[in-house]
Amino acid sequence: MNLELSGKRALVTGSSAGLGAAIAKLLAAKGAEIVIHGRNEGRVDEIAEAIRAAGGAATTALGDLTTDEGAADVARAATADGPIDILVNNAGFYRHLSWADATPAEWSHTYNVNVVSGVRMIQHLVPAMRERCWGRVVTVGGGLALQPMNTHPQYNATLAARHNLAVSLARELKGTGVTSNVVSPGAILVEATKEFVTGIGPARGWGDTWEEIQPNAVEALIPNDHGRFGRPEEIAAAVAYLCSDYAEYVSGATIRVDGGLIRSAF
Ligand SMILES: NC(=O)c1ccc[n+]([C@@H]2O[C@H](COP(=O)([O-])OP(=O)(O)OC[C@H]3O[C@@H](n4cnc5c(N)ncnc54)[C@H](OP(=O)(O)O)[C@@H]3O)[C@@H](O)[C@H]2O)c1
Repeated sequence: MNLELSGKRALVTGSSAGLGAAIAKLLAAKGAEIVIHGRNEGRVDEIAEAIRAAGGAATTALGDLTTDEGAADVARAATADGPIDILVNNAGFYRHLSWADATPAEWSHTYNVNVVSGVRMIQHLVPAMRERCWGRVVTVGGGLALQPMNTHPQYNATLAARHNLAVSLARELKGTGVTSNVVSPGAILVEATKEFVTGIGPARGWGDTWEEIQPNAVEALIPNDHGRFGRPEEIAAAVAYLCSDYAEYVSGATIRVDGGLIRSAF
């Protein structure tokens, strides 16, 4: 399958690290011009440079998406060289908090970062996609939307909101040539995941090295059919498919990439 994206311009929010960086690199390898986004200039430049070094095209847009002004600045920078055809709403964060420690302020802030930030970018960029009768909005959701844990409830709920708004957007975009879909990762190995698991591993008797800790952590926290964490590139592959013309008939759908962590048929 050739997921040809030449001639398309894509903004991947939060592409200075983790899943976003992997998504940006794969879309660039498939021919799209990428706008790398984040708040940290050094990290953003590093990813953009890596894409250019591999023969791809990348520019950058810096900004905090939690304010209207910050999001407007990002949208302006992203469209400086032409309209955006593909928006991947990926930027997000969580703190590992219990119900007792997740304050109302933490709930509001997490909702603003993980949900409203994406809405801001949709409102800035989707109208021009509609005018051109082609566009792709891919929202990164997560298994915790469907199967929440008892911890970090403020984060679980934001993932559920992302899934919900992406389907509502698909209905809104009926007949426009612009699609909205969700990629729902399980537990994917990024820096923060590895740090967290390695931190708690020894005390829980999972071992001392990553090789010892991983299978035990997977069994205890995220039992799945492959016995490992996912890789950022595996999320990127699903996003690339949804951005391609192969996925024209896919609307308001969720692609789970979680090794079978979610034990549901639907
Ligand atoms: N990793 C997983 O297992 C997993 C599973 C399910 C869903 N997800 C979702 O996937 C997305 C990416 O996760 P990740 O694990 O790759 O996280 P990550 O490595 O921490 O990267 C997060 C990205 O979001 C950006 N970001 C965070 N807050 C921002 C803000 N206020 N304004 C603008 N940019 C902001 C960060 O950029 P700067 O720090 O440079 O600003 C960074 O590029 C998140 O939305 C997360 O909820 C992850």
